[in-house]
Amino acid sequence: MNPVTESRRWIPDDWLGPLPLAEAFPHPERPIEVDIGCGKGRFLLARARRFPAVNFLGIERLLGRLRKVDRKVVRAGLDNIRLLRMEAYYATTHLLPDASVSAFYIFFPDPWPKARHHDHRLFNAPYCDALARTLRPGGAVHVATDHAPYFDEIAAALRSDRRFEEIPPFEPAPDERTDFELLYLGRREIGRCSFRRIFSR
Ligand SMILES: C[S@@+](CC[C@H](N)C(=O)[O-])C[C@H]1O[C@@H](n2cnc3c(N)ncnc32)[C@H](O)[C@@H]1O
Repeated sequence: MNPVTESRRWIPDDWLGPLPLAEAFPHPERPIEVDIGCGKGRFLLARARRFPAVNFLGIERLLGRLRKVDRKVVRAGLDNIRLLRMEAYYATTHLLPDASVSAFYIFFPDPWPKARHHDHRLFNAPYCDALARTLRPGGAVHVATDHAPYFDEIAAALRSDRRFEEIPPFEPAPDERTDFELLYLGRREIGRCSFRRIFSR
């Protein structure tokens, strides 16, 4: 992949087995961090600029959004980002390899506020299993949302899960605030929590 001009979209050959992450990045030995539902990519680009020795995978299901992010990444000349157009629940539960991810960023996941739509939410018990399976020892999951009931549900699930320990919440630098966070900043309370994957001795 030409580092300056080529699309950063990654289209794996096989959508059934574990993703060959090593084939996606020019420096596969570097840690991989995943932005779930990367949206318009403000966080992803700022974070990748700040940490050039980390590989970032942005997962987003909307093709139009992903293409826009792709153009921004190419313009910025960032070679440590790859973009996967995919449903993130499936990607996490079925495609990411065991112990392959150093951090997940799950910022402003769709809250599906109506009770009859709660099944569409990303977070549930199998999703916690998938996070635990795919995180490296010591790897972290960072969550932010403006939706208080969904925040309480996510935080409670991870707090009661012995595979995770709570750590101080991730605080983005100003340039790392996501597009959705900028919409709500100063207008709504934003819940943040972070957890580290632990392995019992
Ligand atoms: C509320 S927006 C937040 C975007 C970004 N994280 C931010 O904070 O600005 C949620 C994003 O996640 C994407 N999304 C929601 N559910 C998804 C899923 N199951 N798989 C992949 N992307 C998803 C949406 O298309 C949207 O871009």
